[in-house]
Amino acid sequence: MSTRAKLEELKKKRAQSLEGGGKARIDKIHAAGKKTARERIAALLDPGSFEEYDAFKLHRCYNFGMEKVKFLGDGIVTGYGRINGRPVYLYAQDFSVLAGSLSGTLAEKICKVMDLGMKNGIPVIGLNDSGGARIQEGIEALAGYTEIFTRNVLSSGVVPQISGIFGPCAGGAVYSPALTDFIIMVKQQSYMFLTGPKVVKTVLHEDITTEQLGGAVMHTTKSGVTDYAAEDEDDAIQYIKDLLSYLPQNNLENPPDVPCDDPITRQAPELNDIIPDNPNAAYDIKAVIKATVDNGVFFEIKKNFAPNIVVGFARYNGKSVGIVANQPAYYAGVLDINSSIKGARFVRFCDCFNIPVITFVDVPGFLPGSEQEFGGVIRNGAKLLFAYAESTIPKVTVITRKAYGGAYCVMSSKHLRTDINYSWPTGEIAVMGSKGAVEVLYAKGAKDAEDPKAFLAEKEDEYNTNFSNPYCAAERGYIDDVIEPAETRFRIINALESIQGKRDTIPMKKHGNIPL
Ligand code: HXC
Repeated sequence: MSTRAKLEELKKKRAQSLEGGGKARIDKIHAAGKKTARERIAALLDPGSFEEYDAFKLHRCYNFGMEKVKFLGDGIVTGYGRINGRPVYLYAQDFSVLAGSLSGTLAEKICKVMDLGMKNGIPVIGLNDSGGARIQEGIEALAGYTEIFTRNVLSSGVVPQISGIFGPCAGGAVYSPALTDFIIMVKQQSYMFLTGPKVVKTVLHEDITTEQLGGAVMHTTKSGVTDYAAEDEDDAIQYIKDLLSYLPQNNLENPPDVPCDDPITRQAPELNDIIPDNPNAAYDIKAVIKATVDNGVFFEIKKNFAPNIVVGFARYNGKSVGIVANQPAYYAGVLDINSSIKGARFVRFCDCFNIPVITFVDVPGFLPGSEQEFGGVIRNGAKLLFAYAESTIPKVTVITRKAYGGAYCVMSSKHLRTDINYSWPTGEIAVMGSKGAVEVLYAKGAKDAEDPKAFLAEKEDEYNTNFSNPYCAAERGYIDDVIEPAETRFRIINALESIQGKRDTIPMKKHGNIPL
């Protein structure tokens, strides 16, 4: 074959590979309102930055006549590219080829980019849209999945891993996204479940739709499996890009700084009045967060799951931070099973990737009751405690109002190796609220009193003055300073600057045993 003919052969094969499962399949994908794998990659990466690998790879299956059903690239597009100039490895399952079902070959392609990501310290992004294990390949498909799972686990805490779910993701296939750091789904388009509605109907006689059982809204409100329910594919892609901007490339790097045009000394006078005089009245902690971070931009994670705790990324003076905050506007910001798990997972992620954590505290305690106790609020609440205590990242805490009992201890208190702890003058830091405390302390006195109600009210006032304030903690150095709310932004920025070189360790061990 002449050199020219060889070049022509390459062009032909390349064109064939770019076609995936063919025009008819691609038209069907478009008709369903979805994008193809290649269109998703084009939307995600900087123009012209995509380097494709294994475009000519073929499956090796001879069962069920599969030797006649071959497509170059075999149902997945993999490679390397850049997002806002920063390198990523990625794969996108190609639904036009046998519904993107996973063959041994396809798994090898995924594993290759995962290995490259791990070795080179580059994030790995998976765009999932697949009918699951390629049935004709049997055990080879299962082996392939498990090879991917192993790499997900080994990469965990080494490079950020992000999963976009753009179509079906069912059966054991869900475990690869579940092992990654963040999952983004598209409303009314993607679904994740272990067993679908048909099996649920057969086994449990329960009627449920795909969307109800495993749609984006369910997973972002009920199960907490998913971090963001996108309105459409473009929204999902944008979320992934924005998310990456807060993260470092790997565990040995710091997140990238961005130029900051928001003055570091900017005051937020509205914060001086945000705490209501009535201690049981609510306010929105997100208003506090937005008033202090750069340009009011807060990138929230798991917004609709356990909204009694708020987590997400933001920047102070251009530096990326993770934010954890009790939300008094939802269930009074109480800690429960779901909010503890949500907070713990987020803190651990930040700790993996050198992202300082700022914690805003206004928490009345842990939610009492049989439902919580039966569900293991002890074990689950301990996760948050564990996450804060083991973390070695810079940590700053601001108590805005309540910090009672065990919840005081858990919410990044000084005793959990937090570096700088501030309180607003409205801080109420005590073993419990005044009402509960005087009922225990003065039960006998109230019985003997002429007017028990007035007696208890007086004792409550006394307790509030003497104990339910930030100064008892400040006297002991558990609070480093009581700050004016309006100055919170500047104080946090100063605190972060003072601890940005922090080097802390935990005792040498294989790994801890977080109460799972
Ligand atoms: C092989 C598959 C396939 C699969 C679909 N196809 N899924 N081929 N293995 N898993 C093929 C179809 O036969 C069809 O080929 C083409 O892909 C397009 O599929 P359609 O059904 O026409 O598309 P659509 O109507 O859009 O439906 C998509 C689908 C459906 C919802 C994904 O195909 C489906 O339910 N597939 C089976 C899903 C499944 O049961 N997978 C195994 C799960 S168990 P032709 O040539 O006819 O057009 C699992 C275990 C993993 O994954 C365990 C890991 C540890």
